[in-house]
Amino acid sequence: MKDGNKEARATSDRFSTGLGVLMATLGSAVGLGNIWKFPYLTGSNGGAAFLIIYIICTILVGYPIMIAEHALGRKGRSDAFSTFRKLAPKSIWWIIGAMGILAAFLIMAFYTEVAGWVFAYVFKSFGSGLLSTDPQVTTSVFTSLVTNPLQSLIWQWIVLIVVGAIIIMGVTKGIEGTTKKLLPILAILLIIIGIRSITLPNSVEGLTFLFKPDFSKITATTILTALGLAFFKLSIGMGAMLTYGSYYGDNQNIPVNAARVVAADLTVSILAGIAIFPAVFSFGFEPAAGTQLLFITIPSVFASMPFGKFFMVLFFLLTSFAAIGAMISLVEVVVAYLVNSLGMARNKATFATMGGMAVFGSLAALSNSTLSAVKVFGFTFFDFYDFTTSNILLPVGGLLLAIFTAWVWGWNKFNATTSNEGAIANAGITRVVFTILKFVTPILVAIILLTGLKIIQF
Ligand code: PFF
Repeated sequence: MKDGNKEARATSDRFSTGLGVLMATLGSAVGLGNIWKFPYLTGSNGGAAFLIIYIICTILVGYPIMIAEHALGRKGRSDAFSTFRKLAPKSIWWIIGAMGILAAFLIMAFYTEVAGWVFAYVFKSFGSGLLSTDPQVTTSVFTSLVTNPLQSLIWQWIVLIVVGAIIIMGVTKGIEGTTKKLLPILAILLIIIGIRSITLPNSVEGLTFLFKPDFSKITATTILTALGLAFFKLSIGMGAMLTYGSYYGDNQNIPVNAARVVAADLTVSILAGIAIFPAVFSFGFEPAAGTQLLFITIPSVFASMPFGKFFMVLFFLLTSFAAIGAMISLVEVVVAYLVNSLGMARNKATFATMGGMAVFGSLAALSNSTLSAVKVFGFTFFDFYDFTTSNILLPVGGLLLAIFTAWVWGWNKFNATTSNEGAIANAGITRVVFTILKFVTPILVAIILLTGLKIIQF
């Protein structure tokens, strides 16, 4: 994303083609959420039943909110904060933008750590220590990385410096261009890894785990986790997608584009699941291994395929790029606010943002070592950031966004924007989406939040 002015964005800032819009939005959506978070949460929450609930949350809650963010963003043509100020002057709705900024900080705090592990694994993949099908070997490689405070910090700071440098150098557009060109290659690579994984001995067990639901394991907490993942995955509930909407051309078909983003994003996650779970069961890994699942299991697939080392380097490299695309969109939420609303110079705003993220982030980086015994509400800093963003801040942000769109902004403006001022005849589908935003999203999200957090119990 480029600099934002207080004025409406210049036409030249806008994505000109349908494919450009789709790929740019995917640049924010596809990231560690697909490759790392989706498999680890699916593994820890019982497999297929979790996947089904996650898909329902994505379609029923995620898709309408994404449309709302794109519509509000295109209408406001500014950062999350100023958009609400513009669309609803003298009201408190800018609070959604404020929560988004907090969410961006907290997500970056742990996301940069996981991205740091991915960066480190690009280098580890060149050696031969990682290329093993033995859970003990791959686990010890991972453990020695994360329990080393200095290494954890250094890799995280490298990530922060890379992302900061991209933004400061003003090459964000160029990098986003590269990132989105690499996404199809990542998808193809996942298919190749998936084919190897499902041809491993006993791979059926992994596929059964991923696709044959057992709803007896589902609890209110599981449902909240699935909902949180839907928000996190689609980068919604915090204004990041609103920023993308602000770059959309007036002729872009918002509901169709959002449907493509949701479908493509789900596909990448499921491909990652197919790459990982058959191997998990084939080699005797623990599906509920938690945040380390990707890092300990995926090397075993590479160890059992020709040119394994080459594919492993490529995999972690492409995952790094996907993570960078997502992180740029997170940092942009904060930088755009500082520039637009506080009038800060762009470079200063970027330094301040990255500095703040380094402070929050260091606490997450040390969560497996120096600070492992320090708990916030029973969580390590890493887990606390991960939990509160996905399971509280994003759903609450999404809930408020849905209420704002349906009850404050209203049908006429929503319909005018999503139909491109009447140029597209899509009132049927947008009516459904609007009704969902008006009634279903607020009630459903509120119930899932209250029961998932055990505030109310049935
Ligand atoms: N959607 C990204 C992923 O799944 O990796 C993470 C993310 C990016 C979340 C941007 C929120 C956000 F604003």
